Amino acid sequence: MNQAKHIAIIMDGNGRWAELQGLKRVKGHEAGAKVVKEITTYCSQSQDIERLTLYAFSTENWKRPRLEVEFLMKLLNNYLKKELPSYLDLNVRFEPIGDLGAFSKSLQKTIQNVKEKTAHCDGLVQSLALNYGAQDEILRAINKIKECESPVTEVMFSNALDCKQNVDLLIRTGGDHRLSNFLLWQAAYAELHFCNTLWPDFTIKQLEAIIQDFEQVERRFGGLK
Ligand code: IPE
Ligand code: IPE
Ligand code: MG
Repeated sequence: MNQAKHIAIIMDGNGRWAELQGLKRVKGHEAGAKVVKEITTYCSQSQDIERLTLYAFSTENWKRPRLEVEFLMKLLNNYLKKELPSYLDLNVRFEPIGDLGAFSKSLQKTIQNVKEKTAHCDGLVQSLALNYGAQDEILRAINKIKECESPVTEVMFSNALDCKQNVDLLIRTGGDHRLSNFLLWQAAYAELHFCNTLWPDFTIKQLEAIIQDFEQVERRFGGLK
């Protein structure tokens, strides 16, 4: 049986969820944040799952209307401040990935604070992808190691990335079948699961069913059965 040690999720469909109900798109982001908490809590209680990487804001998401971007920044700031006690209760370590330097100083401070305060937690790692793009991550990694004199190995390269653990199971909600610049290196052998559910409607039951399917898949990694 496979173990889903690292699950990564492209949490897509918040805006459509809200629009379908005649609400403003940002209401979908609020509803999506509640699901982040539920899914994190569930994963923190699982024996198998070590890391949960959630795509929260891409390097491309800056293209959205200013008000939506500002709302997302506020939501993130509030979420991290409010949920710090629950990270600690659940023994969840918070590890952001992405280029955080683009955020306001106060948001960077909040992110850094939750990271530091949860650094001792040794349960689940919840990794939020913030101003994250896999191409940007790869370029930053290349720039970190380019002065290195010996030939770069897979391990060295992997260690220069923000996210150093390969993904076992990658889920995208919201109906689209693309990676949108998420974990291109780390998902090399991930099992991919695409579902139509919009993120705010995504449930623990669905996640359990996806994990059960994953456990039965034959992962060959290029070898034979
Ligand atoms: C995902 O939901 C959340 C972010 C990208 C921040 P969307 O906002 O992309 O929702 P849709 O895809 O427009 O419905
Ligand atoms: C991917 O969703 C990014 C996040 C979930 C944060 P998008 O809605 O930005 O992706 P595209 O634009 O449909 O590819
Ligand atoms: Mg989307």
